[in-house]
Amino acid sequence: MGLDRRIQYLTGNVLSSQIIDSLLPNSFDNIISFLSLLHIEERDKVLEICFRALKENGYIYVEDYVANCTLTPEVKTTLKEVFKSSYVPTRETYRHHLERAGFTDICFIDLTTGWKRCKAERYQKFIDSKEESVKLFGEDVYEHRSRLYRVGRDMFHGGSIGGALIVAKKPSAAQIHLIPETYFSVFTSVYNEQYHFFLEDGSILALRHFKTKTLEHYSAWWSDTKGNSRELINTSEQKSSNPHISIKKNNQTGTICLPEANLEVQFEVTAQFTWGVINC
Ligand SMILES: C[S@@+](CC[C@H](N)C(=O)[O-])C[C@H]1O[C@@H](n2cnc3c(N)ncnc32)[C@H](O)[C@@H]1O
Repeated sequence: MGLDRRIQYLTGNVLSSQIIDSLLPNSFDNIISFLSLLHIEERDKVLEICFRALKENGYIYVEDYVANCTLTPEVKTTLKEVFKSSYVPTRETYRHHLERAGFTDICFIDLTTGWKRCKAERYQKFIDSKEESVKLFGEDVYEHRSRLYRVGRDMFHGGSIGGALIVAKKPSAAQIHLIPETYFSVFTSVYNEQYHFFLEDGSILALRHFKTKTLEHYSAWWSDTKGNSRELINTSEQKSSNPHISIKKNNQTGTICLPEANLEVQFEVTAQFTWGVINC
């Protein structure tokens, strides 16, 4: 495709001065990272390096491990010893790291369900292919890898570690400093729609669509019966680009779709409360 002259490989520790100095400020259109940031404990530092290297309006796309709750010492030890990851934050803490680095428009999409299935399948396939794999890699590599795959499967099955797709933007300098006048208008209208579904297994699914003249925000999260919460989507945009949540309503029934979270909820209204707001 004639791309060979346009590709440059730079390998090394992203935190080292050689790499930092090679990544010219404002020079990358976008950055992607698959399952790499989990190995870098200095999350603020690595995100600051990425932010500096990105062009304005460029995006960082990350797939990474996240903690679904406070991690037990056992899970932390497994992460450190088996997965060489000594720091896995919750989505909320991850968001704070990104915000501290200067990122905006931060969107989290949950990947846990798919990863959980993949990890179980990967382990099963690997042990099914024992004979062939031992021939290919030798007994030691086979044992090491099957342990890695088994521990990975069990850790995701345990529920405290999840997967997330994270997208965030380096805003243009103007956006950082300029606050639109409309923010201060007493007449700024606010639209806010919220849904709370109480599911048969006792868990709760909540969705929110919040809109002003300058901001459109969609979020959805799911809480299980033990009080663990999982953010399914959380976006803030200057103006809506994709419909992150689509809500179709009839009189008493409706359907809500979250395309990014691969979720569709059909519901029936049993009670409805309406109230008016008086401008003071
Ligand atoms: C689990 S592998 C993922 C590799 C690949 N992205 C993929 O999805 O198959 C983790 C990668 O993170 C890289 N990594 C870990 N710490 C790093 C650091 N401080 N600087 C640069 N790369 C790092 C490792 O070299 C390794 O290639």
